[in-house]
Amino acid sequence: MNYPDGAAIPRRQFFGDQVKHSNDRIQDPLELFPEGTARDAAGRLILGGCAVTDLLEQFGSPLYVYDEDAVRASCRQYRLPLAAAYSNSRVIYAVKAYADLHVLGLVDECGLGVDCVGAGELTAALEAGIDPGMVTLHGNNKSRAEIELALDAGIGQLVADGEDDLSFIGHVAAGRGIRAPVLLRLTPGISAHTHEYIRTGELDSKFGIPISTGQARAAAKSALADPGIELLGYHAHIGSQIFDRQPLIDNARKLVEFAIATERETGYFPAVISPGGGGGVRYTLDDAGLDPGPLMTAIGSAVTEALPDARRPLLVVEPGRSLIARAGVALYSVGTIKSIPDIRTYVAVDGGMADNIRPALYGAEYTVVLANRQPGPPFGTVTVAGRYCESGDILFKDAQLPRLRRGDILAAATSGAYGMAMASNYNMALRPAVVFVTDGRSTLTRRRETEADLLGLFPQSGEG
Ligand code: LLP
Repeated sequence: MNYPDGAAIPRRQFFGDQVKHSNDRIQDPLELFPEGTARDAAGRLILGGCAVTDLLEQFGSPLYVYDEDAVRASCRQYRLPLAAAYSNSRVIYAVKAYADLHVLGLVDECGLGVDCVGAGELTAALEAGIDPGMVTLHGNNKSRAEIELALDAGIGQLVADGEDDLSFIGHVAAGRGIRAPVLLRLTPGISAHTHEYIRTGELDSKFGIPISTGQARAAAKSALADPGIELLGYHAHIGSQIFDRQPLIDNARKLVEFAIATERETGYFPAVISPGGGGGVRYTLDDAGLDPGPLMTAIGSAVTEALPDARRPLLVVEPGRSLIARAGVALYSVGTIKSIPDIRTYVAVDGGMADNIRPALYGAEYTVVLANRQPGPPFGTVTVAGRYCESGDILFKDAQLPRLRRGDILAAATSGAYGMAMASNYNMALRPAVVFVTDGRSTLTRRRETEADLLGLFPQSGEG
């Protein structure tokens, strides 16, 4: 196989797994995997005490593997510092990052609530046995059926995402002779340095009710006057994959300032302040990440300082990605390899944009390692392509890997968030299975789809 010359690697030199940065700091990509990930004597990657080769043999390829202890640890890394900085607080998991009944049960066990979007996530949360009082429903265009489902289940709060959404929730609740517990989602006018598609705090956003235009103040007044609404408080989420603490702190402070200003006019002070999620994670060794502990301490303190007196509304934070991303590893098997001399080598794997759309959609980068044997010396950069019919179906561009052959296993770090969650059936692909591992045990938490699952969606001829 004719690979491009490894000497062309611009920034880094590689020694097996290890990476030597231009600043001479040697880093190991395994540090991006769940804590405790290691290689056995044969070089096989061990996740949660399980060899990836055994997992693929048992559950098939591709496969998403989550380290259960890593999820528990990240729940603690949020909950404990927040509780220490601000005792009347709650961490809720943004289910959109990844949902199966097992992970929902796990976060519930760790004392977290959940934030759902849509009837699907809401139904899953209720099915997982989560106390409805710990459930929040988001969505910028909730259907009547979703609102009714939320009201019937008695969930803790619905987040009204606009003036229209607010009055519709009020209308549906009043029609049933009840008041819907509501937070108003505000647009604080804070810009976070992240991908344009995952920024939500700016004035020109489909989400939220702008503060700067006076619409938020007006919406609070309408909520207070609406017989179908019990206004619980205010929410704002400014975006995702944010590495800088400051905009996240500013967002929390801005909600309190809004609450104080609105109280002057209305006499109403909120019971809940909810400054969203958004903490960034490390996909590559160059990413800074954002440590949840100091972030929670800073948000707790900022809210305390901004409050004018001893009142302490419930402070709710709702991380998604940072609770689950590092815990998840995507495993793929190598198939065809195509070299174009002096241009590029494409290594195709058995997954791609149907199980992880993030590289195609956001240009997201990942760190990938050879997982079934000792990596040996690096051979150079290769492009790991997916198997779907689209040129943009590239999973890992310019990945630095050893010489690969058919049947090798690649493991992508930081794959736990928004991979499986955004998976599709493009090319009628079957979405992969998911297993949770801990202490050498593996539990299938989502089975691989079958052709029968897909064919079952089509009414049979004659059935209409
Ligand atoms: N709260 C609200 C209201 C949200 O809209 C989100 C994410 C979160 C919390 C959780 O944010 P996190 O902590 O995960 O950053 N598909 C994109 C991410 C979209 C995020 C949508 N909202 C991606 O793959 O990067």
